[in-house]
Amino acid sequence: MTATPPAHQPLADAQPVQTHSAQLQPVQPGTARIAVAYHSGYGHTARQAEAVAAGAGAVRGATAELVPLDELTDDIWDRLAAADAIIFGAPTYMGSPSAVFKAFAEASSDVWANNLGWRDKIAAGFTNSKAMSGDKFNSLVDFAVLAAQHGMIWVGLDIYPGWAESTASIEDLNRLGSWLGAMAQSDADLSAEKAPPETDLRTAAALGSRVAIVTLRHLRGALAA
Ligand SMILES: Cc1cc2nc3c(=O)[nH]c(=O)nc-3n(C[C@H](O)[C@H](O)[C@H](O)COP(=O)(O)O)c2cc1C
Repeated sequence: MTATPPAHQPLADAQPVQTHSAQLQPVQPGTARIAVAYHSGYGHTARQAEAVAAGAGAVRGATAELVPLDELTDDIWDRLAAADAIIFGAPTYMGSPSAVFKAFAEASSDVWANNLGWRDKIAAGFTNSKAMSGDKFNSLVDFAVLAAQHGMIWVGLDIYPGWAESTASIEDLNRLGSWLGAMAQSDADLSAEKAPPETDLRTAAALGSRVAIVTLRHLRGALAA
């Protein structure tokens, strides 16, 4: 069964998507800082990043911020150091995350060398490309390996694949059927105002909500330990 919220739900008013985790929100959450660290060459993946952040920020007790990676300033590293969770995002270019994202990943080796500076932060990932597949999975694997090298804790999607039965709809959550992270597809001839479609933006918001909830639980558990 697939949880399917109303089509064209405005993201500005996003509520946590009612997946299994969302039904189990903590009663007295602390504050979880969720950073969405992303690159977008032409704006399409930026729309997906905004949806991820909206989903995370809609969870009570969580705050979400967008961290564009175009310029790797000290401020970028400070904001990521302060975050409890980092959600990586990039368009899939030639079957892997964009070169700008890869430059960020390589530069993050300084954090890695400093006693695994991102150890035990929650991590997740999302990607967007023009083809239904387009080898997006490889980009998500790249993010997950990056997170593993940093000693982070990876969180995937908890949504059964949508749009995969004869009665299913393109509006289903997770229509592209990814478990490792959120995928979006943008028709090549559409501007970022029109793509990716709302169905993929809702899936992105669901990933953001799930990461925020898991992060709150993680922080609460760390306090108890
Ligand atoms: C250099 C380059 C390589 C691309 N490689 C792929 C690819 O491997 N698979 C795919 O489906 N789309 C590919 N695309 C299409 C982009 O993923 C797609 O246009 C995406 O929406 C761009 O996102 P952005 O606007 O955030 O940059 C490529 C585009 C560029 C510019």
